[in-house]
Amino acid sequence: MSKLLNGEAITLGTCYYPEHWDESLWREDLERMFSVGITTVRIAEFAWSKVEEKEGQFNFDFFDKFLDLTDELGMQVIMGTPTATPPAWLTEKYPDVLNAKKDGTLFRHGLRRHYNYNSENYKRLSKIIVEKFAEHYGKRKSVIGWQIDNEINCEIAEFYSESDDKAFNLFLQNKYKTLDALNDAWGAVFWNQTYTEWSEVHIPRTTVHENVNPHQTLDYYRFISDSACNFVKMQADIIRKYKKEDDFITTNGLFGHVDYQRMRDESLDFITYDSYPNFAYTFEGFDPNESSLRDRKWSMNLSETRAISPVFGIMEQQSGANGWNSRMAAPTPRPGQITLWTMQSIAHGADFISYFRWRTATFGTEMYWHGILDYSGRDNRRLKEIRDIDSKVKKLSPVSNGRYVAKVAVLKDYDNIFDSEYDVWHRSVDEESQKAIFAVSQKTHTPIDYLYLTDYLDGSDSLLEKLSQYDLLIYPHMTIVNERFLPILKKYVENGGKLLFACRSGYKDVTGKCTMEKLPGKLKALTGCDIPEYTYIAPDMTDVNVKWGDDVFTASVFVDQLSLDEKTKENADAQILATYEDDYYKGYGALTLNKIGKGEVYYYGSAFNEESVKVFFDKLGVSNPFGKYLDLPKEIELAVRENSNGRFAFILNYEKEEKIFKVKEKAYNLINEESISGDVIIPGYGVIVLKL
Ligand code: GAL
Repeated sequence: MSKLLNGEAITLGTCYYPEHWDESLWREDLERMFSVGITTVRIAEFAWSKVEEKEGQFNFDFFDKFLDLTDELGMQVIMGTPTATPPAWLTEKYPDVLNAKKDGTLFRHGLRRHYNYNSENYKRLSKIIVEKFAEHYGKRKSVIGWQIDNEINCEIAEFYSESDDKAFNLFLQNKYKTLDALNDAWGAVFWNQTYTEWSEVHIPRTTVHENVNPHQTLDYYRFISDSACNFVKMQADIIRKYKKEDDFITTNGLFGHVDYQRMRDESLDFITYDSYPNFAYTFEGFDPNESSLRDRKWSMNLSETRAISPVFGIMEQQSGANGWNSRMAAPTPRPGQITLWTMQSIAHGADFISYFRWRTATFGTEMYWHGILDYSGRDNRRLKEIRDIDSKVKKLSPVSNGRYVAKVAVLKDYDNIFDSEYDVWHRSVDEESQKAIFAVSQKTHTPIDYLYLTDYLDGSDSLLEKLSQYDLLIYPHMTIVNERFLPILKKYVENGGKLLFACRSGYKDVTGKCTMEKLPGKLKALTGCDIPEYTYIAPDMTDVNVKWGDDVFTASVFVDQLSLDEKTKENADAQILATYEDDYYKGYGALTLNKIGKGEVYYYGSAFNEESVKVFFDKLGVSNPFGKYLDLPKEIELAVRENSNGRFAFILNYEKEEKIFKVKEKAYNLINEESISGDVIIPGYGVIVLKL
């Protein structure tokens, strides 16, 4: 087990940039960190030139000196590999390492993440610097783990350099072998795109409307993910040769066009996330709507992180105001908010919290991205809050290594995530449904997980085993169907599981082409339903009502008009449960049920909204599973972690004002160290952790 996620305690860290400060400050800084409970620092992720000032000239003194100090003081260190910011000498000499805009304009030196993963020069020079870092620093006493690069695909998740163009061409040659197969997969006969030589095949380039063939785009996103995974694996393989046995390898953040299930399996011991809930309070991003979840929405990202590693770390946790010199301005966290956001991360599965950053930079693009300390470094309110957090977190040790408890999972896969990005018919239903499912899970205290249909299983024996932990699986819009997963879903249902699909499911194959089968295409056998017609809900139509027994709720965005398929053995018990009440599809099925073995498959013909999700959660018996212990208002988040020490309920108040909730059976409050029951007041931004 790594020294970070060791199952014994929840630990605190911070991001430190020795290269930003006079050396005379290092010792004092590290000692002050210890005094507030910080025992780990992450360093070096942007400091390539400190080790290789000129090509091939290596000098390790700078970080050696710093590590002498951490060795002496007992501070644990996470070393970053510095590939997110190539040096000026490098980009000047080898411009092929630069990423480019779609029109070919190169992104130049001066910011960060301006490189591409496919340049042979960049791969070669990255290998050398990573090897030098790992070889030289890997055995240092205070080093406990490695962060690869920094935020893979942050700033930009598209790559249009000439190196990428060539690599994409090879990726396709490998995948399709013949041009006939590629032309077929891309439907290239449409608008005369047929390719006759491999040299004609490119990454997406500037076109009228900036829109290329959708099947090409799908392969392009897969290619970006493949490139990112290979780049990270190249580094992980090198580090693994030199690191000490227990030292871990991770990378930080979640960004677009990356298959993190694969990346974790190939390269990482676990993922770490960078959590900045204060983005909800940036001037450009603030949602004045009272029902908006605002900073509570970061629980969705934390749930996504958990889908990669059930127990994970936070490499960067917000500790001050946001702001580049050019954008993203936001206020300083209010008293209590740093604690709240820390506990939000822990509630969802984090056992390590590292604050971004110790001191606020006095120069550079991020001089308004505040850390714990301001420019002068004087003691301040935020430092005091970190000290308080440390005393709270110590009392939460029994929670460490606890798994988040959810009986409902939302299914996903990267093909569908990529498809919904460039296909508006897919995106318009998916965005609506994902938002609604998450909001209702929060407001009704029905914890959910995200679960990827994937071959990368992170230690589980089988995908079926993973699926079977849930009473209800919702795949809102499984537009692309990878048929490999169908028998597994069927088995899950036969064994007694409930599976719920919504509109626009089943109509595309893995190339992203539409099926000529009757809809819902590949999902016909499983759902037992038939969709003779479908339509967007017209913009001049306000409410389309759906009636399910005594419940009436509105449909959203789209209508699949459902009837039952011709009866076969598989759908002998299929039935229509709900109907549309309006427009020309009045009387058509809005929801069907097919019983298979001991389980049930539902097909809902529209996209989800908050009204409909509430009804589904109630009728399918999954709503508010901890209701017998706690009565909570909708403004409060509930998250439960469980391990051999018991079940721990995190109760989080994101509002400024205090709230009241009820503890129905006596429970132990870990932070205040007392048993409580009955009506409890939780202050604004308050957090209570109860052992149930
Ligand atoms: C993260 C990044 C950090 C810092 C921080 C604040 O995305 O990893 O280096 O930039 O955001 O902007």
